[in-house]
Amino acid sequence: MFITFEGIEGTGKSTQIALLQQHLESQGHKVRVTLEPGGSRIGAELRRVLLSLENRDLTPQAELFLYLADRAQHVAQVVRPAIAAGAVVLSDRFADSTVAYQGYGRGMDPELLHRLNAVAVDGLWPDLTLLLDLDPVIGLERAMSRNSREGKTNAEGRFEAESIAFHTRVRQGFLDLAARSPERISIVDATGAPEDIALRVRALVEAKLHA
Ligand code: TMP
Repeated sequence: MFITFEGIEGTGKSTQIALLQQHLESQGHKVRVTLEPGGSRIGAELRRVLLSLENRDLTPQAELFLYLADRAQHVAQVVRPAIAAGAVVLSDRFADSTVAYQGYGRGMDPELLHRLNAVAVDGLWPDLTLLLDLDPVIGLERAMSRNSREGKTNAEGRFEAESIAFHTRVRQGFLDLAARSPERISIVDATGAPEDIALRVRALVEAKLHA
């Protein structure tokens, strides 16, 4: 089973993944948590290049290919082997982020991005995608205070430095994707207490596990 979490910055994806991991493990499932960019060894190097504020001169095309390279490596070395070993794989971001950020955010053609994603994922699409949906004004505020708390502003701040208009387009991209693939992508309201959101996430995951 392959489950991905998507959404703009600051929607609480990593908190929800940790809560779901605990829950699934308590039910006896083997769980593998991973992320994009950075889930593989080579991906961790790509993540540094992709997110550092030093790299403001990265072109949109180069950025796209680095995300796709990260994904190809991640699928081959981490996601596919973990699924084969019987784990439930939980990934913080996956292919939908490319359509939302590079497509709706940066203005590249979403159909072309879908085809490039198909090369990178090599047939391995998620069984379920949870789209944590939140107003970008709230999300960005949360993400920026987290980065400054963790001292990550320079290392990981390249997208947080984008405008609210950019993140509003990205959010719309995710919502459009969900409307086009309702059988795979479920929208989860990301406002409110983490424990309440976790209950919504759990219900969707259990429905899929027992389908
Ligand atoms: P995060 O792991 O802290 O969410 O940071 C990843 C950043 O990379 C986030 O701003 C979204 C961005 N991103 C893309 O632009 N395209 C992609 O394909 C992926 C996976 C992430």
